[in-house]
Amino acid sequence: MRTQVAIIGSGPSGLMLGHLLRQAGVDAVIIERQSSEHVLSRIRAGVLETVTTDILEDLDIAERMRAEGLPHDGFNLADGERLIRIDIKALTGKQVMVYGQTEVTKDLIDAAPSRGLEIVWEADDVALHDFESDAPYVTYRKDGAEHRVDARFIAGCDGFHGPSRKAIPEAVGKGFEKVYPFGWLGILSDVPPCNHELIYANHENGFALASMRSMTRSRYYIQVPLSDKLEDWPDEKLWDELCRRLPPEGAANVTRGPALEKSIAPLRSYVFEPMRHGSLFLAGDAAHIVPPTGAKGLNLAASDVRYLSQALIAWFEKNDGDALAAYSDKALARVWKSERFSWQLTMLMHRFPEDGPFDRRIQIAELDYVATSETARRAIAENYVGLPL
Ligand code: FAD
Ligand code: DHB
Repeated sequence: MRTQVAIIGSGPSGLMLGHLLRQAGVDAVIIERQSSEHVLSRIRAGVLETVTTDILEDLDIAERMRAEGLPHDGFNLADGERLIRIDIKALTGKQVMVYGQTEVTKDLIDAAPSRGLEIVWEADDVALHDFESDAPYVTYRKDGAEHRVDARFIAGCDGFHGPSRKAIPEAVGKGFEKVYPFGWLGILSDVPPCNHELIYANHENGFALASMRSMTRSRYYIQVPLSDKLEDWPDEKLWDELCRRLPPEGAANVTRGPALEKSIAPLRSYVFEPMRHGSLFLAGDAAHIVPPTGAKGLNLAASDVRYLSQALIAWFEKNDGDALAAYSDKALARVWKSERFSWQLTMLMHRFPEDGPFDRRIQIAELDYVATSETARRAIAENYVGLPL
């Protein structure tokens, strides 16, 4: 098979990139290791910045999001019993959209056939070849047969564990990493959310987050030690601990229900530089990971593919390689600012096992500063809604 851009990975970055290219008449094929059912069963991010909602709008794939998504004007930080509202609408003029990554992915997959975007599902042993040349290709196995896709460029949109970043020789790239000593235990349940806005809570037992997918579906997280297993957290114990950690306004309104999904995700900050090597471009989690505290992961994937699609389209339409040459630096400038914000909010809202009374006093002082300074709240709001492209 021959195409113009071979995209590895059918997560949000691969799907958005594929659609943006197809909309401009550029040919693209997505090669994905998992089945579509598996991809659609993953419960991940829930908060979309305008950088992401604008892509769905521009692609004319936003109808369901507009009907079912929940625009939010603010969110809350809690320190023990104290609730600090960040009025993002008043402070920035913008909102965020609560609409799950699962739904975004579903809308993009459903629209693929009518837009001429081919997705190869269940491709095994995906490998990248000759991407230091102008004629790279991707090979994979499916149904017992070997396949080859020749392309002008390869887009590595295959997440943190995919083959694209790993294919770049060590001598030409560098990873920057910070691993946190805890994970997030998440539960999804068909019960009404405990509050109409999100609550990020710092409690002496650890962090908790009250989020939602709709007015009838809640998403909650609590910080747990990395050594904890799902078996350590039967539903009732999880609900009890969540209610202990949320401020009274939230805890009093928690409705308990059976878990539709429960999982533990480790927290990590990671950036790989540069995001290009030859004819291979990295986007999304393939190039960087943020701890989920700032809700930035999916939104960074969106800004990467916005830049990358514009650069690829300029190359195919006008034979202009300037934007492709600038892609890595441009994307990384935004990535590092989101890394900084996610790290800062993670440090502010979690309890670290190694922290002493000094570190805790600093958290209290910072939260008090946020509560009493509009300037501090504006800085948080500006980052939360997403920095300009
Ligand atoms: P991915 O969504 O990881 O997609 C990569 C795709 O590549 C996958 O479909 C994968 O199957 C495919 N792939 C991998 N290897 C291969 C291969 N060898 N061959 C072919 N295809 C391959 N962000 C938030 O903002 N809030 C959250 O609450 C949140 N929770 C998360 C929970 C978990 C468990 C994880 C892993 C991430 C979470 N994130 C969260 C981050 C957010 O989901 C990601 O930033 C987002 O999914 C990035 O999109 P992506 O398309 O770059 O990568
Ligand atoms: C959700 C996840 C986040 O990391 C976050 O900051 C906000 C919401 C969620 O899954 O709903």
